[in-house]
Amino acid sequence: MDIEKFRDYEAIIQNVADVAILLDGNGRIERVNPAATHLLRYQEKELLGKKIEDFISEDPKQKLKNCFSRKKPLYNYEVTFIAKNGKKITLTINASLDPKKKDIILSGRNMEKMSGLIRDLKNSYRELEATQEQLIRSEKLASAGRMAASVAHEIRNPLNVISIAAQQLSKKFKESSSQKPYMNLIIKNIERLNYLIEEFVSSARPPQLKMRLSNIGEILHEVVPATSEKCQSKKIKIIENIKPRLPMLRVDRERIYQAFFNMTLNGIEAMPHGGTLTISAESNAKFIKARFTDTGEGIPKDDMIRLFDPFFTSKKEGMGLGLFVCYGIISSHQGTIEVESEKSRTVFTVQLPLIGGGSP
Ligand SMILES: Nc1ncnc2c1ncn2[C@@H]1O[C@H](COP(=O)(O)OP(=O)(O)OP(=O)(O)O)[C@@H](O)[C@H]1O
Ligand SMILES: [Mg+2]
Repeated sequence: MDIEKFRDYEAIIQNVADVAILLDGNGRIERVNPAATHLLRYQEKELLGKKIEDFISEDPKQKLKNCFSRKKPLYNYEVTFIAKNGKKITLTINASLDPKKKDIILSGRNMEKMSGLIRDLKNSYRELEATQEQLIRSEKLASAGRMAASVAHEIRNPLNVISIAAQQLSKKFKESSSQKPYMNLIIKNIERLNYLIEEFVSSARPPQLKMRLSNIGEILHEVVPATSEKCQSKKIKIIENIKPRLPMLRVDRERIYQAFFNMTLNGIEAMPHGGTLTISAESNAKFIKARFTDTGEGIPKDDMIRLFDPFFTSKKEGMGLGLFVCYGIISSHQGTIEVESEKSRTVFTVQLPLIGGGSP
């Protein structure tokens, strides 16, 4: 190599952001670049001639040691160095061997910043996914509302006609008639259909909110006695973990109660053989967070995506409207609902923003 080219290489080594250390065959430091002295906080003269091991705190698989003794190159191996100020710095290093001179060239990169970036990216991606889910849900809610209006229109009227006709017809049969039970069955089911449609229409309609300054902790607290009978019969313990002095929020008290009640009831119904339901609430600078954690059967992964859909239910007697209604109420308060579930632990988390809220 001519001297000019050598100078070019030297200039590169001196100016790169990566750590570059030249070691002799025994692992003694022969040369270091400014990135290495800067990172390790030593002056060049304090490092030259010293064993590299003196500056290493962790070499978990002893691979760097092997690199000297067995002359094995290293690729992307994490080693923790100790700087002069005692700070531990983990570098991802590569070591290549110079076969002629038996020197080792060690280059290292601090991946902390990179992993911070990756972490930020992952968080942003997760947030994006959550926003997308929320958007899909609110679109579903809006389309369910539109659908409800047309369903009501298309089904209600003919159903009314059928209902009146069935009742007229029913009068023709004596109570003792063998056909009477069939007539009763028809009428009962018409009533049920009517009820379903009315429920759907009223739950899909965006709620008219009567906002007033309210204490979310108090509303949560009121849910507990309303469910105590069910809890007693199913051997369910309710634990309240509501932080005192939560900020006051402008909400529709009745609606929020209804949403909290539905979630509490779901938690109870998920524990037919007993368990614990923890109702907790806390606040930060932006939100009040209310959580309903049960020790029930959990939600199968495939069901997760349909939980908030109208009429999605896994219960014999369920309507599948509870969470649909909850979603409508919470989102009309600009809040969010998140669900996490595994066996023996399901958590519904409601976040209500502090916008328009008062002081504790
Ligand atoms: N805490 C929970 N644990 C397990 N599954 C749950 C829980 N909460 C909701 N689910 C599931 O979500 C479904 C929908 O709940 P949702 O409250 O909307 O309807 P429902 O409880 O079935 O009927 P209802 O209209 O009477 O509330 C439930 O049937 C159940 O399968
Ligand atoms: Mg329910």
